[in-house]
Amino acid sequence: MKQLKAYINNNKKKFINELIEFLKIPSISAEKSYQKEILKTADFIKKSLKKIGLDTVVIYETPGNPIVFAEKIVDQSLPTVLVYGHYDVQPADPIELWDSSPFTPVIKKTPIHPEGAIFARGACDDKGQLYMHIKAVEYLIKENQLPCNVKFMIEGEEEIGSNSLAWFVPKHKELLANDVILISDTGMIAKDTPSITTGLRGLSYVEIAITGPNRDLHSGLYGGAVANPINILTKMIASLQNEDNKITIPGFYDDVIEVSKEERAEMAKAPFSLTEYKKAIAVDDVYGEKGFSTNERNSIRPTLDVNGIWGGYIGKGAKTVLPSKAYAKISMRLVPNQNWQKITELFQNYFESIAPKSVKVNVTPHHGGQGYTTPIDSIGYKAASKAYETTFGKTPIPQRSGGSIPIVALFEEQLKSKTILMGFGLDSDAIHSPNEHFGIWNYLKGIETLPYFYQYFSKYYKRN
Ligand code: BES
Ligand code: MN
Ligand code: MN
Repeated sequence: MKQLKAYINNNKKKFINELIEFLKIPSISAEKSYQKEILKTADFIKKSLKKIGLDTVVIYETPGNPIVFAEKIVDQSLPTVLVYGHYDVQPADPIELWDSSPFTPVIKKTPIHPEGAIFARGACDDKGQLYMHIKAVEYLIKENQLPCNVKFMIEGEEEIGSNSLAWFVPKHKELLANDVILISDTGMIAKDTPSITTGLRGLSYVEIAITGPNRDLHSGLYGGAVANPINILTKMIASLQNEDNKITIPGFYDDVIEVSKEERAEMAKAPFSLTEYKKAIAVDDVYGEKGFSTNERNSIRPTLDVNGIWGGYIGKGAKTVLPSKAYAKISMRLVPNQNWQKITELFQNYFESIAPKSVKVNVTPHHGGQGYTTPIDSIGYKAASKAYETTFGKTPIPQRSGGSIPIVALFEEQLKSKTILMGFGLDSDAIHSPNEHFGIWNYLKGIETLPYFYQYFSKYYKRN
């Protein structure tokens, strides 16, 4: 790639400053009060895509947040890369745990990022990673090196389930036609250990409400004689996992494809230090399903976790009360062959069936989605692998991730194309947490690596 390194060096400051401007807009999709900022962010993307020389740049209205689409068709006979990303971010709470304001980006050094990292909500997930793509294509267009067609589809509801994109994609199959989908919204093992994400987990998210008596009761007058919804809820939740930490919902594991011994042995070769893992999150020991390693537990195995639980008196001091209601939010991470609607139904039926008559149970499904895997012998994978090899000097390791991007399975179903996940974030970047950040090194390395994907993909496509 002619001049790529020089181009990045000369424009480093500009790339960083543009990302900082992008990060200043609080595009929180979970809270309706940020609607104005959402529109402003979509407009920011539109302008950025126009500026780098894409021919068509359109904001599509949806029932929810707008989708930004853009394309540059070089020649109909050439392959087409569709880039997907999301401009929405998670809420910043708990805001008091941030060392700097989440929407006033600052650059600070960390032990892992001695070159500095940008601290802001969305820095890594996904504004920073998405912006790498815009800058990579800027280079390709400016230097006359774009070897294929490129399309961008940037949405604003990923963090709340991508409902509008799921509505949009089936209506615009022609517009979105492509030969490969390229996404940077995952991570890599370490700065000196590039990896390509070959799998994502599915998700089923439910909310539970347990109702006991019709009002909060005096816990002395009634305690012991009436079912306490919080006691019942915690008992029921605890029974969902047995002593081996296997999930007890009948049928839960029916569709799980067990990963072969050989593949597990291959996976175990990826560099990993349990000591470092524990140290980074300050726990004395790990915990999980019997018979599986930490990396297996967080990638190839399904899980059930309470994300939040509340009810009763939680104010200061003590108030003697037997609450009327108790609530919990539960997520189940699923592996590729598990159907999320089926799992949601299994959960709902089972949870209702184990409740005592003394309470009423209400299970409300939230969003969900299918898991995903991608083979390592496709030309997309090979092009990505070669791109990392070129800029990292190392062959990347294929790795299944524990996170979810549910829309990827829908892309495959509707657009019949595979997605390549080239993530440049690190687990320590604290996505969804206070002090989220993205290393400057990672950001620039992404901008440097992505152009090679286009080059190799176009080359391998021709040979095919
Ligand atoms: N980018 C993440 C998913 C991710 C992060 C995958 C790191 C692999 C490695 C995405 O924005 C996200 O947070 N997804 C949600 C699911 C969504 C339906 C709310 C998740 O995984 O919790
Ligand atoms: Mn993301
Ligand atoms: Mn996210």
